Formats: sequence, C-alpha cells, structure tokens
Amino acid sequence: MRVLVIHGPNLNLLGTREPEVYGNVTLSEINERLQERAQELGIQIEAFHSNHEGEIVDKIAEAASTTDAIIINPAAYTHTSVAIRDAISAVALPTVEVHLSNTQAREKFRHTSVIAPVVTGQIAGFGADSYLLALQAVALLLDRK
Ligand code: DQA
Repeated sequence: MRVLVIHGPNLNLLGTREPEVYGNVTLSEINERLQERAQELGIQIEAFHSNHEGEIVDKIAEAASTTDAIIINPAAYTHTSVAIRDAISAVALPTVEVHLSNTQAREKFRHTSVIAPVVTGQIAGFGADSYLLALQAVALLLDRK
C-alpha cells in the first residue's frame, strides 16, 4: 500500500513558525514519525512539500497511477484553492485532510475548507499527531476496501 503525504505552503517553516499555534515539531520530524508508523503498518510513504499551488495540483494528478491514498495538509490553500479541490475530486482516491491546529477555533476565514467536500474525512487540532491519526485512518480505509 502506498500513501502520498502532501504538505502545503509554509509548512516547511514548522518548528519556528508560530510555535504557540503549530508546536515545535519540524516537518522532517513529522515525516520521520510517519515513516516509522508506516513501516509498522506495512505502508509505503512518499512525503512531498510545496509552497506552490500548481505543483501540488500536478502531484495529485500523478498520484492517480502511483498511490493508493492521499494525506494532505493544504495549509492556506485549504481556504482558497478550487484547483486543489478539483484535482482531489478528479483522482478520486481515499483522501484525508489534515491540520495541526483546530481551524474551527481560529479566525473566521479558516472555518471554511473548500477541500473538505471532496475528501473522505478531516483530522484537525492534534498538532503533529494529526498526521499519525490520518495515517491510522488511511490504514483502516485501505484495509476495508
Ligand atoms: C493549517 C491551518 C491553515 O489555516 C493555515 O493556513 C496553515 C496550517 C494547520 O495545519 O493548522 O498553514 O493547515
């Protein structure tokens, strides 16, 4: 089983970026934790980060033939990107939307996810552990397929 993990804009700054909101864990540490857990679950992980909408769209399209499921933190694009939403909808893979912070408890503009209607489900508010919970969710989804 192969899972593509996509990290959107500014997540490369995790560790130093607003630690009171996002915690102190870096993106490499998140990817390492995911790799460790994935090995236990018998899942192969590819982690991809981009600050650019079009690159994320291309990566999702490519996933149609290379991946069984997607975990995505679209970051700020969550609230704006119809292009990423349409790409997820087009590939029709099991997809889990992840956020470190509880976006519903933050500014109003973060309450709307244009991605949410086309994903299997969302996990938000558990800091870096949101990703591990998403991996667990994906493992269950693929198991029951
Ligand atoms: C985020 C929440 C978004 O609103 C924000 O733009 C991010 C990170 C999160 O993981 O909590 O960059 O997706």
